[in-house]
Amino acid sequence: MDKNYKRTLVTCALPYANGPVHIGHLAGVYVPADIYVRYLRMRGREVLYVCGSDEHGVPITIKARQQGCSPQDIVDRYHKIIDESFKGFGIDFDIYGRTSSDVHTKNASGFFRKLYDEGKFVTRESEQYYDPEAKTFLADRYIVGTCPKCGAEGAYGDQCEKCGSTLSPEELINPKSKLSGAEPIRKKTTHWYLPLQDYEQWLREWILEGHKEWRPNVYGQVKSWLDGGLQPRAVTRDLEWGVPVPVEGAEGKVLYVWFDAPIGYISNTQELLPDDWEKWWKSPDTKLVHFIGKDNIVFHCIVFPAMLKAYGDGYILPENVPANEFLNLEGDKISTSRGWAVWAHEYLQDFPGKADVLRYVLTANAPETKDNDFSWKDFQTRNNSELVAIFGNFVNRAVVLTHKYFGGRVPACGTLEDIDKEVLSEIPRLKASIESNIENYKFREALRDAMSIARAGNKYISDTEPWKVAKTDMERTATILNISLQICADLAIAFEPFTPFAAEKLKIMLALDCLDWEILGRPSILPSGHQLADAELLFAKIEDDAINAQLARLDAIRAEREAKEKAEAAKQVAPQKEECTFEDFEKMDIRTATVLEAVKVPKTDKLLKLTIDTGMDKRVIVSGIAEYYSPEEMVNRQICILANLKPRVIRGIESHGMILMAKQGDGKMRFITPQEVLANGAQIG
Ligand code: 2FM
Ligand code: ZN
Repeated sequence: MDKNYKRTLVTCALPYANGPVHIGHLAGVYVPADIYVRYLRMRGREVLYVCGSDEHGVPITIKARQQGCSPQDIVDRYHKIIDESFKGFGIDFDIYGRTSSDVHTKNASGFFRKLYDEGKFVTRESEQYYDPEAKTFLADRYIVGTCPKCGAEGAYGDQCEKCGSTLSPEELINPKSKLSGAEPIRKKTTHWYLPLQDYEQWLREWILEGHKEWRPNVYGQVKSWLDGGLQPRAVTRDLEWGVPVPVEGAEGKVLYVWFDAPIGYISNTQELLPDDWEKWWKSPDTKLVHFIGKDNIVFHCIVFPAMLKAYGDGYILPENVPANEFLNLEGDKISTSRGWAVWAHEYLQDFPGKADVLRYVLTANAPETKDNDFSWKDFQTRNNSELVAIFGNFVNRAVVLTHKYFGGRVPACGTLEDIDKEVLSEIPRLKASIESNIENYKFREALRDAMSIARAGNKYISDTEPWKVAKTDMERTATILNISLQICADLAIAFEPFTPFAAEKLKIMLALDCLDWEILGRPSILPSGHQLADAELLFAKIEDDAINAQLARLDAIRAEREAKEKAEAAKQVAPQKEECTFEDFEKMDIRTATVLEAVKVPKTDKLLKLTIDTGMDKRVIVSGIAEYYSPEEMVNRQICILANLKPRVIRGIESHGMILMAKQGDGKMRFITPQEVLANGAQIG
């Protein structure tokens, strides 16, 4: 362990309790952290694994308003759902606390008060948006408007979800209160700020000089914040929901959620270990690792460390912050508001007993260095072709054959042939690689190594064909199965961090006492004569039906979204054209006419040849409306035409006039038809 740390404190970003967690959360934060913790524990290291719900912040209060309940109701509901989801995936924190707890309120309040008393904050009066109807200041997400960067509607006062830009409320174009829809006014208010610029040099030395080994995405983001120059950051808000600012004259103000949430890591540790928490937070022997998503980097690498530095009192800083990038879903950004997500709790219901499969897929495809995509087809393939066909198949063959030929007892290992030595020598090499990869937060590669053990085992048993050898040479069969079973035991150990449920099943099947990392790769984990339990399938095939049901759900969401977007686009009105004179208008002879015949113009997609009765004559007009109308739909329709348009030859056909069409913002065109049937040739004007 680097720097001879004695223990490791692992924190996972506290998820907001305003909705369930989804695969993006699992892939970005919780599965990698869990792999890390499980691995350290198997190696006998002292670890504390801390998480909890982040129960403050504007989105929670907005949701409560929308649903007509209290913020406490919202956080109670989602805290439970999230907690259960984590357990369902085998993510078992030492404590899963809550930032609405008394311990946290007291702790966060005390933290602020000490900084306040020591003059570590500056106060600033500024003008902020205020809703004159709801009579309240509008923090962050209470304001929506047009994004100044990409023009998207519905951007929030702190961020545009469409283009991802960080915004301040003043930047929004046409700001509106999310509470009442009113146009907000500017009103003076005073807040406390942490002067981050005072910590800039120290942060540079600590991270830019001292932690060049951090992931490039984390290091790069920190560098760009520091190079951009740090500014004082407000740590309070005008809101009702949150930890009240513990200062006289601060009525109606609470701590900013990003001030109180990271303190939640400490509060949750205090709640679990009231007498022993300090050794985890204040001892230089403790290695602190924050697992987070990329949107949390600035808070964990700049703001929280600056808070701790300002506080003093021996708080340790993170040794690493292995932040992941984002996971997309079927090629689109995951979006909770649009429902474009795979929710953890729903997955557990839809795929009972398959938590490991998702853990596996999310790790194999983890967004460690760049955004990655989750697709249900890939999920199915990885399950069926990797977990079932390689890992599961190998274990099944080894255990079933041992039952068949040796009554389920591990047979003795005889003289080793080259192929035996080769496969056995692979394991320690892969073990070392898993260790180095996990310790360096490269979980994808670590999983690939673990899977290489399964591949090696599967190839070994396929190449040595014990089922054939058994017809002539039981001694050799015994050796092959002994080696295969040792590899099965290696797999139980190597996969425990990644697929803990399968590892446990395998442990029971092999009747192993415990899964101890140190014995991984030893040639005799299972002594000869050791009795195995019954064979059981480790993984089951996932059929197309299950995948198609998930895809259908997403298709419905996509269709709904597209319909909404189209409806929005349809409402967009093209700007008025340049002014024209009455004489210009009078020149146009617009009349009613009826379509007599309609045919497609050969070899074109868009053109219809229409024969029409104009009341004055029968004539032909070629019109580009085949995209919108079939010939049959046009016949007998009364339409409006520009009759005196100079004839034009289109695709060899002379066209005498133009059909009048209305074009919506989404590009959809419809012809204009009079409300009641008129005589053909009636003049419009
Ligand atoms: O982004 C989020 O979901 C935040 N609730 C994470 C908070 S992490 C910590 F600082 F509490
Ligand atoms: Zn934008």
